[in-house]
Amino acid sequence: MAPRDIWFEWLNHGRFGRDERLRARVEAETARLAGRLLDHVPLPAGGALVDVGCGAGLVGLTALALQPDLKVTFCDVSGPLLAQARARAPGGRFLEVPATALAGVADASQDVAAARAVLAYVADKGRAFDEMLRVLRPGGWMTLAEPVWRDEALAVPAMAAVAISRGDALARARHKWKQAQFSGEAMAALTGYSERDLLMLARAAGFGEVHVRLEIDVEASPAMSWAAFCALMPHPLAPSLKEIALSAEERAALEAALRPHVEAGTNWRTRRVAYVWAQKPA
Ligand SMILES: C[S@@+](CC[C@H](N)C(=O)[O-])C[C@H]1O[C@@H](n2cnc3c(N)ncnc32)[C@H](O)[C@@H]1O
Repeated sequence: MAPRDIWFEWLNHGRFGRDERLRARVEAETARLAGRLLDHVPLPAGGALVDVGCGAGLVGLTALALQPDLKVTFCDVSGPLLAQARARAPGGRFLEVPATALAGVADASQDVAAARAVLAYVADKGRAFDEMLRVLRPGGWMTLAEPVWRDEALAVPAMAAVAISRGDALARARHKWKQAQFSGEAMAALTGYSERDLLMLARAAGFGEVHVRLEIDVEASPAMSWAAFCALMPHPLAPSLKEIALSAEERAALEAALRPHVEAGTNWRTRRVAYVWAQKPA
């Protein structure tokens, strides 16, 4: 059996808890984020754009809807996702390459290098910035939109302290839940940076003009079933709540506290997205 592709699984199922009713909401929201990412850069007619970590092709397809004359190169490490992108954008070019080595994309060949929610998963982010700079023509633009999960990781030790001092099942459950999703070596690439680090990396790579905008949205999650909530993965590396080892008492305490809010659409969540756009010096 072919090994499970975590990227394909997350984009096609995990991010909406395998709940098809949530899919439309999530897809509309990510399409809005892709549009915002492209708002920051020019998309010249007849120009070239490389969608780094393209997944199923969202950013490249959004760019093509805005500027049908673009030549888009879709790059990703996931073969199954590249196949999905190819089915949606048959006129594109498709390369199975990592963000840190864009083999097949020539030096100074691109007007725009775009990545949405990709560098978060790349350990050597500096190398990815170097590669984007390499493939851009002088005067070309890089544009990124990356989740910032650092605050979630920093909250985990504080939750541990609460769990120890209060000792109740709910506090223990909350701590174990967030610890499993946001801490540890496996999450280091994802949780170890802020928007300021992205700015420094862009400057260190050799970009000239750099702009950074951090957006923080605190909003109620859409109403969903408890089963969908338990199957949701906040990012591709995170186990879902139902996969996390909790005692029966801890699980029951969490369900009693959260389920009414999850089902009523009054469960608050905070999303942080760093937009970075930067120009290669002419
Ligand atoms: C959260 S998804 C985002 C996909 C797409 N950019 C979008 O906006 O829908 C993360 C993507 O990064 C890709 N990815 C993970 N590690 C990568 C790497 N080292 N280099 C390039 N892409 C990578 C995954 O295969 C996946 O398609």
